[in-house]
Amino acid sequence: MRTQVGIVGAGAAGLMLGHLLGRAGIDSIIIENRTREHVIDRVRAGVLEQGTVDLLRDAGLGARVLREGMRHTGIGIAFAGGRHRIDLARLTGGRAITVYGQNEVVKDLLDARDGTGRPLLFEVDGVSVHDLVGPQPEIRFVHNGDRQRIRCDFIAGCDGFHGICRSAIPAAAVQTFDRTYPFGWLGILADAAPSSDELVYCLHDRGFALFSMRSPHVTRLYLQCAADEDAAAWSDARIWAELRTRLTMADGWAPQEGPITQKGVTGMRSFVLEPMRYGRLCLAGDAAHIVPPTGAKGLNLAMADVWRLAQTLDAVVRGGPPDRLFDDYSARGVRRTWRAQRFSWWMTTMLHRNEQATPYDERRQRADLEYLVSSEAAMTSLAENYVGLPLD
Ligand code: APR
Ligand code: PHB
Repeated sequence: MRTQVGIVGAGAAGLMLGHLLGRAGIDSIIIENRTREHVIDRVRAGVLEQGTVDLLRDAGLGARVLREGMRHTGIGIAFAGGRHRIDLARLTGGRAITVYGQNEVVKDLLDARDGTGRPLLFEVDGVSVHDLVGPQPEIRFVHNGDRQRIRCDFIAGCDGFHGICRSAIPAAAVQTFDRTYPFGWLGILADAAPSSDELVYCLHDRGFALFSMRSPHVTRLYLQCAADEDAAAWSDARIWAELRTRLTMADGWAPQEGPITQKGVTGMRSFVLEPMRYGRLCLAGDAAHIVPPTGAKGLNLAMADVWRLAQTLDAVVRGGPPDRLFDDYSARGVRRTWRAQRFSWWMTTMLHRNEQATPYDERRQRADLEYLVSSEAAMTSLAENYVGLPLD
């Protein structure tokens, strides 16, 4: 097989890259090691920045997100029993977020890919990438029992945090930056109508809790828990009791309850790889960087990466200098990820209970929250980061 761009991974990043390249007349082959059903069904984040929605719309993928996505012009920050609204739209000249599951984005992208007839292979095994610094890098894998090779002009590593592309880069050619948090999130989906129109991020003495949603009938909720928490140790009754304790406000507001349809624990870590390229391999999305979910930046960073990468590959295919253009792709991506790292770290630290905190640390954390909800400048800073910095 031969293609212009070999894409490893059919998550949001790989599929969107294939879509944007197709619109520029550049062909690609996407390979994915899981099943199509797994890729669609796994539960992921659900907050799209304004720029991500605009990008989907401009790429011809806006019909369903604009119809079914829930546009939110504010979010709630809660502590000490009180909820405080941050008016995202007023503070950012009318920008907002849209609540639309990442798996819905993936479904839209798969439908679009199917419509083009361009190749997308699921359930591939033993993927490896070769000759990254030569003119013709290669992807090797096994599909339906047969060994296959794709000769590519370029390879895009969109294979997520646990993929193989990042580790194909010699350690001496890159630097990594890492931080793990001493807690995780226990997340649930419940068949219950959301009892608020907007998300609520809450710090309680017993830990963080987040009220979110997926549709007018489905509530999404998270609880801070141990990093290695066993979801099986949490009965539905225990989950609701803990959510009620943390999220019931002094004015009586609490999430509406209903049957729990999904439960899982997510670890919290931050990771950055610099640079995001090696030879003719460029990384995008979780393959290159991850953030804790508190700032809702993971998917949006991935979308910004592939927007830049599609433009870069287009310029290279038209005869531009690959080294200079890929360095520029990486430098702009690294700058954007560090801004998202800072914001995600700040939201995480401000909103989570830290077992090691001294009474001094706890008072300072409370002051941080009180300042945030009382200062126009502080709210504006949160709002402009939360709705997303302009694509660059
Ligand atoms: N070969 C082929 N595909 C692979 C391999 C491999 N060796 N390893 C992993 N993959 C696939 C995964 O199965 C997955 O479908 O690569 C895809 C990576 O997709 P995501 O993990 O969704 O990552 P990305 O597309 O970068 O999207 C980032 O996902 O985890 C969230 O918070 C994150 O919202 C962000 C988004
Ligand atoms: C979600 O709805 O899954 C969600 C919302 C906001 C976050 C993280 C996850 O910060």
